[in-house]
Amino acid sequence: MSKYAPYEPNIKSQGWAFDVEYRRARASDAPGIARVKTERDGGVFETNQRVVKNELEELEKHEDSALFVALMENQIVGYARLVYFDSKLSQTKHLSPDGWYFLGLIIDEKHRRMGIGTHLSEHRLEWLKNKGAKEVFSFVNTKNKASLDLHEVLEFEIVEEGPGFLNVDFDDSTGFLFKKTL
Ligand SMILES: CC(C)(COP(=O)(O)OP(=O)(O)OC[C@H]1O[C@@H](n2cnc3c(N)ncnc32)[C@H](O)[C@@H]1OP(=O)(O)O)[C@@H](O)C(=O)NCCC(=O)NCCS
Repeated sequence: MSKYAPYEPNIKSQGWAFDVEYRRARASDAPGIARVKTERDGGVFETNQRVVKNELEELEKHEDSALFVALMENQIVGYARLVYFDSKLSQTKHLSPDGWYFLGLIIDEKHRRMGIGTHLSEHRLEWLKNKGAKEVFSFVNTKNKASLDLHEVLEFEIVEEGPGFLNVDFDDSTGFLFKKTL
C-alpha cells in the first residue's frame, strides 16, 4: 500500500474505460467509498465506513462541498471531492485563496491508467461550470508525480509553491497550488 501511484511515464495507459458511471455520491455508497479509502489509507474498514457515512450525511446539508464517485459494474472504483473555501467563514493553517478546490481524488489500484481520474475530474469541472464557478484550485505534493502529470493533462496552471495549502501540510516536502479557469 503506497500513498502515491508509482510514477510510470513510459508505461502507456491500459486503454480508456468507457463503461464507467460518474455521479454525486449517495448514502448507499459509503461501503464502496470506504473500501477504496481503506485500500489506500489503511485503517479499519468499519471505522472508515462510519466516517464516510457521516460525511455523506453532512454533505446533504451543504452546498459548498460535494463528493463524486466513479462506478464500474455498480462497484465504486474511485472518488473525489470538491470544497468551497471562504476565508471569511473558516480559518486555515496555510494562507490560501478563496474559491472551489479539488480535493481527495483516489482511484483504486486495479483501475488506474484507464482515464478514470481524468473523467472524474472532468465531471467535477462540468458540475462547477453548471454552478457558475469561474475557476477552481487544486494542490499536489511535488513528490506526487503521477498527480502532477494528471493536472497537466487537465490543463491546470501552477500559481504557487508552498509548504501546505488550506489545512494540508506537505510534511518533508512542498506542493504546488494549481488553478484552472473554467
Ligand atoms: C493520481 C491518480 C488519481 C490518477 O488516476 P488515474 O485514473 O490512474 O489517471 P488517468 O488514467 O486519468 O491518467 C491520466 C494521465 O495522468 C498521467 N498519469 C496518471 N497516473 C500516472 C502514473 N502512475 N505515472 C505517470 N503518469 C501518470 C498520465 O499522463 C495519464 O495519461 P496516460 O495514461 O494516457 O499516459 C491515481 O494514481 C491515484 O489514485 N493515486 C493515489 C491517490 C493520489 O495521489 N491522488 C491525487 C492526490 S492530489
